[in-house]
Amino acid sequence: MKNLDFIYNRHSVRNFTNESVPQNDIDEIIKAATYAPSAKNVQNWHFVVLKNKHKIQQIAGIVENKNSKLVDSLEDENLKKELVKFRTYHTIFKNAPVLIFVFAGLYKDITVDILKLKNASSEEIQNITRIAPTIQSISASIENLLLSASALGYGACWMVGPSYAFQEIEDFLGFKKEGYFLTSLIPIGIPESIDLKSPKRKPLEEVMTVID
Ligand SMILES: Cc1cc2nc3c(=O)[nH]c(=O)nc-3n(C[C@H](O)[C@H](O)[C@H](O)COP(=O)(O)O)c2cc1C
Repeated sequence: MKNLDFIYNRHSVRNFTNESVPQNDIDEIIKAATYAPSAKNVQNWHFVVLKNKHKIQQIAGIVENKNSKLVDSLEDENLKKELVKFRTYHTIFKNAPVLIFVFAGLYKDITVDILKLKNASSEEIQNITRIAPTIQSISASIENLLLSASALGYGACWMVGPSYAFQEIEDFLGFKKEGYFLTSLIPIGIPESIDLKSPKRKPLEEVMTVID
């Protein structure tokens, strides 16, 4: 495929109109997310879809409260300022018509077990665990989700910033699936602006090395 516009036309969208997203479009977007590759094809994802605007705002409240609590508990004034500054960035989903919660099931990497059996050093084990196939598979599905939302005319934003409130959010949602945990929030809706932009990318020379 030569036309990569679907990649370059995707941008993180943080402001949405009031328009709702029809369930068949949500189905299509989640279906596209499930066509991502996953380690050993475990398909270790589960997507919780929330369209209740009141509940979405309550979740923003949970993040704001947790953020305030953390700020109050800090002594370092710079850290406090930093965390307060991010409060808005962590609740940009509050006016979205749809909020998707991406849950991951832990992928058990037998390489780690083998290394442990072989009494590998903690550094060696850490070097393997940081490769995190669980999260790599989830990330592939999230990228599919974002690209398909954008291709259908919606805006979305991958959100991990409010992770300090994920336990409280999980409790509020009441969704339980054995071994699964919340990894990210994705608000989806019609973008408020048609003039969407993304930050500049690093030049290719900085991020690519060709070895002969
Ligand atoms: C793992 C991850 C976490 C992110 N968390 C947040 C977030 O909490 N809030 C937010 O507004 N954007 C968040 N973003 C979006 C990034 O800020 C955005 O992707 C980046 O600035 C590049 O812009 P673009 O998506 O428009 O290309 C996150 C993106 C990723 C991949």
